[in-house]
Amino acid sequence: MSFAFKHFPAARDDLRADVLAGLAASPKAIPPKYFYDDAGCRLFEAICTQPEYALCRTEQALMAAHLPDIAAAVGDVDCIVEPGAGDCAKVRLLLGALRPSHLAVIDIAGAPLAAAAQGISRDHPELAVTALAMDFLRDLEAAAAWLPAGKRLVYYPGSSIGNFPPESASGLLARFRHLAGAEGRLLVGFDLKKDPQRLHAAYNDAAGITAAFNLNLLTRLNRELDADFDLARFSHYAFYNPVAGRVEMHLVSLADQTVGVAGERFRFALGETLHTEHSYKFRCDEFSALARTAGWQQEGEWVRDGFAVQLFA
Ligand code: AVJ
Repeated sequence: MSFAFKHFPAARDDLRADVLAGLAASPKAIPPKYFYDDAGCRLFEAICTQPEYALCRTEQALMAAHLPDIAAAVGDVDCIVEPGAGDCAKVRLLLGALRPSHLAVIDIAGAPLAAAAQGISRDHPELAVTALAMDFLRDLEAAAAWLPAGKRLVYYPGSSIGNFPPESASGLLARFRHLAGAEGRLLVGFDLKKDPQRLHAAYNDAAGITAAFNLNLLTRLNRELDADFDLARFSHYAFYNPVAGRVEMHLVSLADQTVGVAGERFRFALGETLHTEHSYKFRCDEFSALARTAGWQQEGEWVRDGFAVQLFA
């Protein structure tokens, strides 16, 4: 059994710099990767169990239903690499079907990642598991040095790619080519354009879990950046923008107020927004065209109930 854990430092300095820059910008914005502190990871898992938010369940069902077909299309691989692996639940299914000798999981949330990767290592004693705690948007090229030679599959499920505007998404997919290597493959899951009412409901669940997830970002800043956000004076506001093809998530100020963050003061006018997330939705042809701009050719496609997985080489 082989298990390696590498923690890339400086996540806290990045949070401070990114948040101060985002609050000084207009409109104010904070990158969605900062949702995922321990409470944020738990809230996201709870979102995935909400009746309105079918994304995770649908992808899971799609993967389970088409697994033999997907495995045959991917072919033999030596290593699976998953950026943003979270609790590593999704990649377990692929491990059984593809039987690689090496798994590398990457996530910005180091502690849950290490625990999950160790669990996989325990269940697959023959597998070499590498867990890299890093912000892959910053350190992806450094991650490549930790991967074995051979044919690699980059697995990017869960519509995480939807967090990035098209130009950034294309840039990220191009960096995945480097991670995948010469004979590499890319398997991506993404959410499809659908009835905007369904999309609206998915980000406005009746139990208020998505609202809690969004507001938890402020709790995190209060704790980690010595901020004094009053959560009662911000409102979760999420909607589908059909012109841009994305769900936008905001925290809208309910008052004229000043908030202290990391020793600086920021004014929020009544109605001013702090933008927290874009969640882009695609048509299948749109996504394969986007991947083509990053140098990937489509090799396979599986669709189920408003969600798609595409394979590229
Ligand atoms: C994890 C980025 C796919 O955009 O749907 C869920 C995160 N935000 N509810 C998404 C999220 C609000 C999710 N992704």
